[in-house]
Amino acid sequence: MIELHPNVVSLAYLIAAVLFIMALRGLSSPESSRTGNYCGMLGMLIAVTTTALGPEVESYGWIFIALGIGAVIGIAIARNIAMTAMPQLVAGFHSLVGMAAVLVAGAAFANPGAFGLVAPGGEIYVASRVEMALGAAIGAITFSGSVIAFTKLQGLVSGAPVSFKGQHPLNALIGLAIVGLIVYFCFDQQPAVFWTMTALAFVIGVLIIIPIGGADMPVVVSMLNSYSGWAAAGIGFTLGNDALIITGALVGSSGAILSYIMCKGMNRSFFNVILGGFGGDSSAATATGADDRPVKQGSAEDAAFIMKNAGSVIIVPGYGMAVAQAQHALRELTDELKDEGVKVSFAIHPVAGRMPGHMNVLLAEANVPYDEVFELEDINNEFQTTDVVLVIGANDVTNPSAKTDPTSPIYGMPILDVEKARTVLFIKRGMASGYAGVQNELFYRDNTMMLFGDAKKMVESIIRNL
Ligand code: TAP
Repeated sequence: MIELHPNVVSLAYLIAAVLFIMALRGLSSPESSRTGNYCGMLGMLIAVTTTALGPEVESYGWIFIALGIGAVIGIAIARNIAMTAMPQLVAGFHSLVGMAAVLVAGAAFANPGAFGLVAPGGEIYVASRVEMALGAAIGAITFSGSVIAFTKLQGLVSGAPVSFKGQHPLNALIGLAIVGLIVYFCFDQQPAVFWTMTALAFVIGVLIIIPIGGADMPVVVSMLNSYSGWAAAGIGFTLGNDALIITGALVGSSGAILSYIMCKGMNRSFFNVILGGFGGDSSAATATGADDRPVKQGSAEDAAFIMKNAGSVIIVPGYGMAVAQAQHALRELTDELKDEGVKVSFAIHPVAGRMPGHMNVLLAEANVPYDEVFELEDINNEFQTTDVVLVIGANDVTNPSAKTDPTSPIYGMPILDVEKARTVLFIKRGMASGYAGVQNELFYRDNTMMLFGDAKKMVESIIRNL
């Protein structure tokens, strides 16, 4: 068996760490995201190969079996998963990271000698106890929290917040008990203390995610991503693996920063969300039905006529565009409009769709030029001077009640000011509400025309009429 010199191992881990940082840098913009992904893949290949060639690995049989099973499952999921199901997939993956952390910590506790964690007196080093307790606790919270997020996002249970009397005092009590048991474990390595602490961490993971509903869920997934990173970092200390510590810290901190940015985008308090919706909106995701007021309804022919005669059109895509896979048809439509001399741009809301960057990824897949795609803050002032806005499968991100109705679950969320344009066209199948479950006042406005139908079919029909 090849055995690497410790200096080579350190150098390889350093290269892997630099590649992971370059991956994060690359993923910060659509143009460089592919390169970012390649950097991350190369970094992970180097890190895993280096670890596998380490002195503590005695045989490769089980490793190859695990790699084979993991690769088959990973490739099958990656090929078949719908983009719209990505948030629950990510939540599912985080649950595995959390469980891995619990299992490694549990194994290290059960057989500390095999991990080199036994002090001369026969006890586990105190520092190792802290690391394994933190790894197990954060891992358990990540696991059960991610499973609840998965079931909510997958629609296996209701996405509505679940709250009960005394919830926050109970959470606080369990949180304090976990901290107390970790401290106690540092003085006395009783199995009962370790496993009770781990069991309580599983329970608190469920309790902090159930009161979070609707509009806050994207932040939760990103926050669990962060937790999974910290769990991995804790386990990296137990295993004495620098690459795992660095990777865990990168995932932990980038997940936390992304959650913070998303909270700002949705005007939610970061601490309310991570503390399990404490003081957060309990009314989110309570659906309100459409009322009987008339709406102005148009056809693909009307839409084609209006857009062809416009000087400028801004397209606002949302979740429905992803469901209908209308991005390619939309690209064709923009080409047709540009041929007619119309200026076309895209406006992307930070939480449009169901995951960060959801719309950017789909538009990039359809080869929409990056310089035609604008973020909310860069385009929001343009609506007032725009002739036509085509909202395709988006709803919450255009809802003006976020600005005007303090009782609305989305109150305070920055929105795209589409109503300021001369004409607003909405493509959707009916009058249903969006993710947050609130009715959109815009549908009833004089300058709005509803185009009822599947997003892709409607766009194809508009193209034919052009
Ligand atoms: P939504 O508010 O969810 O609205 C999507 C609309 O698309 C629905 O009203 C639906 O109306 C329509 N639709 C669905 N399928 C369609 C199809 N095949 N053809 C045409 N229309 C279709 O979407 P949004 O405006 O993108 O807002 C995103 C929401 O999701 C926000 O509330 C956000 O907080 C939340 N969220 C975001 C994320 C991230 S990170 N992006 C993650 C989780 C949740 P009909 O049924 O009438 O067609």
